[in-house]
Amino acid sequence: MTSAAFPAARLRRTRVSAWSRALVRETQLAPTDLIWPLFVAEGQDQEEPIGTLPGVSRWSVDRLAARAREARDLGIPCIALFPNTPRALRTEDAREALNPDNLICRAVKAVKDAAPEVGVLTDVALDPYTAHGHDGIVDARNYVLNDETSRLLVQQALVQAAAGADIVAPSDMMDGRVGAIRQGLEAAGHVNVQIMAYAAKYASAFYGPFRDAVGSGGLLKGDKKSYQMDPANGREALREVALDIAEGADHVMVKPGLPYLDIVARVRDRFDVPVFAYQVSGEYAMIEAAAAAGAGDRDALVLETLTAFKRAGCAGILTYHAPLAARLLGA
Ligand code: PBG
Repeated sequence: MTSAAFPAARLRRTRVSAWSRALVRETQLAPTDLIWPLFVAEGQDQEEPIGTLPGVSRWSVDRLAARAREARDLGIPCIALFPNTPRALRTEDAREALNPDNLICRAVKAVKDAAPEVGVLTDVALDPYTAHGHDGIVDARNYVLNDETSRLLVQQALVQAAAGADIVAPSDMMDGRVGAIRQGLEAAGHVNVQIMAYAAKYASAFYGPFRDAVGSGGLLKGDKKSYQMDPANGREALREVALDIAEGADHVMVKPGLPYLDIVARVRDRFDVPVFAYQVSGEYAMIEAAAAAGAGDRDALVLETLTAFKRAGCAGILTYHAPLAARLLGA
C-alpha cells in the first residue's frame, strides 16, 4: 500500500467536522447489535435491585413481560434470561434444571407471549441449580464431571427449547456439549433452535456480580478453573472455537469482553461464523463505579466500549447497558 507523507497527508483533515467523521467512520453501533441479559426471580410484582450491579434488577415473571416489550420498542433484537433459583430447589443433581415448569421456562413463555418478535436466549449450564454453585455435576473431590454433565445439559436445552427459547447458549465449557445438544435438538424436531456457544469462556474475576444476581456466588466451592479457560491463553481459544463450530454452533461467544478483544479479533479473522462478546457483570460494575466516582462520563464510556467490540469484529454484544445504549443511539 502506498500512502502520501506529510503535508500531503494530514489525517486530521477528515476529523475537522462531524459530517466528515460520520462519512469515514469504519464501524457503526446500532441497537440491533445488542443482546440484553435479564435476571428472573420468583414472586409476584417484584423488582429486586442487585447491590453489586447498580441499575440492574431481578424481575418476577409477570414484570418481565414489560422488559421484553421495552426491548422491542428500543429495537433490541434479543434478550438473554438468567434465573435466580430458590435455594431450596438447588440440589447436588441440579434436577430443577430439567423441570419443564421451572422459573426459566415460565419466564421464556411469558416473554414470548408478550413480545413474540423479540428473540429469547437461555443459558445452558447447571450453576443456578446446583447446591455447590458449579456448572455441572461434581464427584467426591469436587471435580466437575464432563460427560455426565453434558448429558444433563442436553436435557436442559431440550426443556428450554420446548418452552420456546430461540437460542440456547451453553456457558458451561464441558467438552463435546455443543455436538450433543445439536443432536438432541435435531432428534426432538427443534431444527431451527440456534446454538450460541460460549466458546472461549475464561475463568474470570469479572463474574462476581452475576453470581450475586443468580444466587450462586455464596454457594460456590472452589473456582471454575478446571473447566473455564486460563486467561493467559489465546491460541487455545481458537481450538475451542473450531471445535464448537465443527459440533454445530451457529454463533460463538468470547467472554468476558473488553479484556479479551484480542481474542475476538483473532476469532473474527480466522472463522466465518458470527462472533459475539459478553460485556460481563464486572465490566458493567466497573463502568458504573467509574461514573459514580466522577472518573468518566457514563454515556460516553458505554458507547465507546460497545463501539470497540464492533471494531474488534463482533456481530453483537451481550451487555447490561443495552437499554441505555439503545436510547443513546436514538432508537
Ligand atoms: C454461568 C454463567 C456465568 C455468566 C454467564 N453464565 C458465570 C460463571 O460462569 O460463573 C457470567 C455473566 C456475567 O458475569 O455477567 N454459567
